[in-house]
Amino acid sequence: MSEEVIIARQTPNLTGTVKASGAKNSALKLLAAAILGHGPSVIRNVPLISDITVMSKVIERLGGTVTRDGHVLTVDTTNVDKWETPYELVSKMRASISVLGPLIGRFGRAHVAMPGGCQIGARKIDMHLVGLEQLGVEFQIDHGFLIATTPNGLHGGDVILEFPSVGATENTMMAAVTAKGSTTIENAACEPEIHDLALMLNEMGAQIEGAGTSVVHVHGVSLDDLKPCDHTTVGDRIEAGTFLAGGALLGGPLTVTGVNPAHLRMAILKLRAMGADVETGNDWVSVERTRPLRAVDIQTLPHPGFPTDLQAQFMLLCALAEGNSVITENVFENRFMFAAELSRMGADITIDDHHAVVRGVDKLSGAPVVSTDLRAGGALVLAGLAAEGETIVRKINHIDRGYEDYVGKLASIGARVERTVVDAI
Ligand code: UD1
Repeated sequence: MSEEVIIARQTPNLTGTVKASGAKNSALKLLAAAILGHGPSVIRNVPLISDITVMSKVIERLGGTVTRDGHVLTVDTTNVDKWETPYELVSKMRASISVLGPLIGRFGRAHVAMPGGCQIGARKIDMHLVGLEQLGVEFQIDHGFLIATTPNGLHGGDVILEFPSVGATENTMMAAVTAKGSTTIENAACEPEIHDLALMLNEMGAQIEGAGTSVVHVHGVSLDDLKPCDHTTVGDRIEAGTFLAGGALLGGPLTVTGVNPAHLRMAILKLRAMGADVETGNDWVSVERTRPLRAVDIQTLPHPGFPTDLQAQFMLLCALAEGNSVITENVFENRFMFAAELSRMGADITIDDHHAVVRGVDKLSGAPVVSTDLRAGGALVLAGLAAEGETIVRKINHIDRGYEDYVGKLASIGARVERTVVDAI
């Protein structure tokens, strides 16, 4: 058996300009939202990643069609006539459950396979259910399926989320679009991707206010008032933040375009605190570092706090910084698997529950390592660029889930990196 891997070799610097693709975490939900428009919606700036392929299959299983022309997807949901999403797709990608809200909005019902456990924590969906129940949705579990029905119709409601969950905010917001009356979601997640989703829904005819803040109001409209639309996906702040971490790691100057700097404020603050110079424009951020990296404390929090999806990349910076850093993971309970891989390369990291103490070392050395999840995979490749010798990163299917042409983009800014096939272990 063979396996595709990424080989990263020590690289003097990452310089030049690289463009961020459209946001994975937005595009996935935009495809789901197209279900409400029952017609051909055009979604632009969609990243070429495997998670989008899975979501396209979900839409096709429901009876829709998805056609691609480069980064432009036409999602035709005219003939969507099923409301069931099977385990084989949900188990591949948890975000498949984003069709729950739109299916309930369109059909008043949905059968979605329960997502299984996930490597970065339990990742429950209880808050999705609590939110939707306030809108009149009733749930049963049957043979691993979540069966949602609306015996008394879908109606507006006052929802308060226990934690600003991204997925629960989105599912509740999408179902509320066609509910009778008004819905308020308090303690809503404020991620830019939620704002992007609301923009598309409003282009379709929904009436949503406040998305991107902690209080979202949705005034229900009739399903017949919703039309397909033409929408451009917001830039991927996490992909951009990954490249910026790479620039800060090796020195730069490196410019990342295609991203709104306001979406990266906390990451930029931490880059500056670590000794990097950061400049921003309308849709770009550039980073340069001429001083040694300084240790910094980071705690992940819902947006606008520091994103958990950049935690591994910044742990790498801390690993090579002068001094000791404490990283606290508040969003997912089990997201430090990256630390064990990085330690194999010479990092000095102690984990205590949801805290990581990172003692800076002078250098890392190349080693065979395994991507434990998408962002850890991205960070391990960067670690390989900084490390002496050669690093072989395995399980790169995780990286392909969310980074479009990661190797090609890194190579274009000077990285010594390639994909190749080796014997599987
Ligand atoms: C989304 C992003 C993911 C990002 C995360 C947090 C997508 C496809 N994924 O994931 O990249 O890391 O936001 O920014 O957009 N929780 C519950 N019950 C629930 C829902 C969530 O306990 O019903 C918990 C989760 O286990 C987790 C925390 O809340 O510990 C945050 O989860 P959530 O914000 O919902 O993340 P996702 O939408 O799954």
